[in-house]
Amino acid sequence: MKVETLRWFNNRLEMVDQRILPAAFEYLSYYTAASVAEGIRSMVVRGAPAIGVSAAYGVALEALRLQDKSAVEFKEGMEVGFTVLAASRPTAVNLFWALQRMRKVWEGVVTQSPQEIAQRLLAEAHEILAEDIRINKAMGAHGAALLKDGARVLTHCNAGALATAGWGTALGVFRSAVEAGKKISIIADETRPFLQGARLTAWEMVQENIPVTLITDNMAGYMMAQGEVDAVVVGTDRVAANGDVANKIGTYMVAVLAKRHNIPFYVACPLSTIDLNIASGKDIPIEERSADEVKGFRDTHWAAEGVKIRNPAFDVTPAELVTGLITERGVVLQPDAQGIRKLMAG
Ligand code: MRU
Repeated sequence: MKVETLRWFNNRLEMVDQRILPAAFEYLSYYTAASVAEGIRSMVVRGAPAIGVSAAYGVALEALRLQDKSAVEFKEGMEVGFTVLAASRPTAVNLFWALQRMRKVWEGVVTQSPQEIAQRLLAEAHEILAEDIRINKAMGAHGAALLKDGARVLTHCNAGALATAGWGTALGVFRSAVEAGKKISIIADETRPFLQGARLTAWEMVQENIPVTLITDNMAGYMMAQGEVDAVVVGTDRVAANGDVANKIGTYMVAVLAKRHNIPFYVACPLSTIDLNIASGKDIPIEERSADEVKGFRDTHWAAEGVKIRNPAFDVTPAELVTGLITERGVVLQPDAQGIRKLMAG
C-alpha cells in the first residue's frame, strides 16, 4: 500500500490523521490556512518535510479562499495566513523554508489578479510535493549504498512516508536499500511520548513487509551492547550551519550510545532542512509541548497527579557525533561548517 500522507482532492487538501494511526486510517479535509496551521499544531500532520508541504498548500488554500476579494483585501488576508502558518510549530525549518518559497512565488506574480496568483501558488504547492518525493528517492539511493546486506538498522521517531510527501527520508533509505535487493532489518525505537516509532514507523514497515522489531527507547543501549545494531539512520527537523542536528527528543541519547559502541550514526537530511542562518545547534528553537503527552497517552494518565512535567519535543545532536549527513546531493561525512557550506554551494 502506497501511503499518500497529503493529497490534493476536489479543490481541497486532504491529510492522513496521524494522531489515530495505526488504529484507523482516515483523511481530514482542509480549506484554509488557519485550519492547516491547526492540523500542524495538533499533529494531524507531522515530520519536517510533511509540515513544509502542508504549509505550502495552506498558503495556496488561503489564496483560493480570498481570490474573489479586492487586491488590498487579498493581500491583507494572505499576510494573516502566512503569520498563522508560521506560528504553528517552531523547530522544523521546512515550515519556514516552504513559506519563504511560496512568498517568493507570490512576489513574482504580485501584479496579477488574485485568481491568477491563487493558481500560481497552487501549482507551486503541487511542485513542492512532487519535488519532495524526488528528493527522498535521491537521498534513498545515496543512503542505501551505506548499508551492507543484512544490516540491522536502528531508527528513532518516524522519518517515513508519513513524515514527508512520500517514500521518507530515513525510511526512504530503508525502502531504497530493499529495492536494491539488500536484506536489511529495522529496529524501531518506540519514541516516547508521542509514539511515532511504535505507531507510525512500525506500521509503515509492516505494511511493506520490511522486517521491523519494536523496542522501547531505553532498550537501545542494551541492543547495541549485545552487538545487535549495525547502523543508525534518523531524520532531522533542522541542521545548523555547523552540522549540529535537531531531531525528535531521544535522538541525542541514541547518538551518544552509537559513538560509545562504534556504530555509524547517519542523518537523512534534505537540503531544505539545513538552516544556514543558525550558527550552531544551541540557537535552534526547541518546541516544548503539553505536559499531557508525558502524563500518559490520550485519555489514560499514569503519572502522579501534581508532579512537575517537562516535555521538550526535540534535542540537538552535536555534529561531532554524526558519521554522515545523507542528502539529495550525496553524503557529507563528518559534517562541519566547511562541509555544509560546500554542500549548499552545490
Ligand atoms: O514531532 P514530529 O513527529 O513532527 O517530529 C518528527 C521528527 O523528529 C522527524 O524525525 C523529523 O521531522 C524528520 S522527518 C523526515
